[in-house]
Amino acid sequence: MLSYQHIYHAANFADVQKHALLAQVLKSLCAKPLPLAVIDTHAGRGLYSLDDAEAQKNREFDNGITSFWYKRAEMPACLKPYLDVVEHFNEDGVLARYPGSAMMARQMLRPADRFVAVERHPGEFGHLQQALAGSARTQSVQDDGLSVLIDALPLPERRGLAIIDPSYEIKSEYAELPKVILRALKKMPQLCIFVWYPMMQAGGHRLMLSELVKSGIRNALVSEISLEAAPQEHFRMTGSGILIINPPWPEAVMDDITQAVTTRLPAKAAGEVFWLDNCHIDAYTGLMVR
Ligand SMILES: C[S@@+](CC[C@H](N)C(=O)[O-])C[C@H]1O[C@@H](n2cnc3c(N)ncnc32)[C@H](O)[C@@H]1O
Repeated sequence: MLSYQHIYHAANFADVQKHALLAQVLKSLCAKPLPLAVIDTHAGRGLYSLDDAEAQKNREFDNGITSFWYKRAEMPACLKPYLDVVEHFNEDGVLARYPGSAMMARQMLRPADRFVAVERHPGEFGHLQQALAGSARTQSVQDDGLSVLIDALPLPERRGLAIIDPSYEIKSEYAELPKVILRALKKMPQLCIFVWYPMMQAGGHRLMLSELVKSGIRNALVSEISLEAAPQEHFRMTGSGILIINPPWPEAVMDDITQAVTTRLPAKAAGEVFWLDNCHIDAYTGLMVR
């Protein structure tokens, strides 16, 4: 059994980037009248209590949501959909609960939309079921998220979003993901696919993106936030990346949010946005070059 629990990292800088972008994707998809389906393949526990001992252990949220929350009145409009959802779960003004991808999606979807949240870890799944209890047109599934996604495609709604946010505990996940993404697009070319990845010295994420560039993938936009230094001693990530295939808005939206997050983090960081479409493969290294 794998041991990853997102509560130790909840609301850190990568979550702010991820959920700020996800909120804008959901807002844009929900602006069109036709119903849509969302599949969250690695849903986690849905709602994270920042007072829990696990979240307090390293307080990663202090290099994440904290400053955005306390200065929320001064934040740019592009972060509003995200901060509105965080505020919904903290109506008394005290930041105690942080909505992950599942609660964000459930909160923003409309009554006619359908939501499937998949989580494999039994403990996390128990929390997820509790968080989503009573939600209409919502299914919680304890299974392998990527298999559930592939089996569900093409979606009967013909409009959909796949949120893929693995823990990357197993190195082979970096190699598996491009295959799954390409299979998913073959079954449903118009599917919007939202993928998070950690940036690490070992460069697994570069191999993953390079495989997609080799495949000739189109309409694939990337946001990366690189940290100048680790904010805490235990921290192994050098940055955080989001890949969106078939984004519902232009590059400028991705850029605005990436810069809005990067420039307001307590840790020094640099944000970049680029299309995989414009990358090529270096014949010598076999890796993507921008
Ligand atoms: C990074 S966390 C997800 C965080 C969540 N998306 C959020 O925004 O709150 C990754 C989650 O994937 C779960 N997981 C790991 N392997 C899985 C698999 N094969 N299928 C579904 N869930 C898996 C882990 O238990 C963990 O809860």
